[in-house]
Amino acid sequence: MEEKTLNTRRLKPFERIIFPLDVADADRAMEYVRLLRDTVGVFKVGLELFVACGPEIIKRIQDEAPSQKVFLDIKFHDIPETVKRAMQVCSTLGVDFVTIHTSEGSRALQSVAQHKGSIKVLGITVLTSMSREDLKEIGIDVHLAEPEKLVLKRAELAKRAGLDGIVCSGLEVSKVKEKLGEEFLVVTPGIRPLDRTIPQDDQKRIVTPFDAIVNGADYIVVGRPIRDAQEPRKIAHLIAEEIQKAEDYRLTHKIH
Ligand code: C5P
Repeated sequence: MEEKTLNTRRLKPFERIIFPLDVADADRAMEYVRLLRDTVGVFKVGLELFVACGPEIIKRIQDEAPSQKVFLDIKFHDIPETVKRAMQVCSTLGVDFVTIHTSEGSRALQSVAQHKGSIKVLGITVLTSMSREDLKEIGIDVHLAEPEKLVLKRAELAKRAGLDGIVCSGLEVSKVKEKLGEEFLVVTPGIRPLDRTIPQDDQKRIVTPFDAIVNGADYIVVGRPIRDAQEPRKIAHLIAEEIQKAEDYRLTHKIH
């Protein structure tokens, strides 16, 4: 990667892969960074690793993989003043992406957007582990309990508040892009290559890498299918090839 481009049309296929470092110790995380740094574009630091290692781990990833982006995925969920102050601290860490739950409402989203500097802030719409029944269980209005409707509503809220994009499943991407425009970033977790099943999988709204990219995702989060593979690099390469095929498909079918 020559530069950390923000224009996602110029990304190479492998740069669209976000690998979550979902482990609890720094040495194991760094083993994955060294193993995968030329096969994925973004390393994601989530709750588990951040709680275990703190901001120090971000510096180590940046030193070891300077061309890769770092995604701090700690999904802010608090009052506007608290998330604003957390955002101000994030801007000193040199990370490229940060996440906040859109269910925080527009005041919290705006206060983060106003202090994000060059960091891309993504709104979590509806976690890909949540089904219609799960939404009903937590009291989401029955008319909105369809994940797609709630995703669209929250994506609009995120855009209005000044966020750069959202996180949603590959099933909702095309509607989000259609409604909110190509430039509004969409990151898609819940990616499952056809030939790889995950025992006791918690992800419910899943799609293949090909479908996610054809539907318009800018980035895909691929964790367990790479991490638990016998040859993680090989699987990452295969996924990059699938992304290339999906981009070719979009070109030949004139999907913009
Ligand atoms: O591919 P796999 O299911 O292992 O990916 C899990 C990762 O995706 C975790 O880091 C989790 O936090 C992230 N994730 C996410 N947003 C969702 C669902 C999962 O960022 N809606």
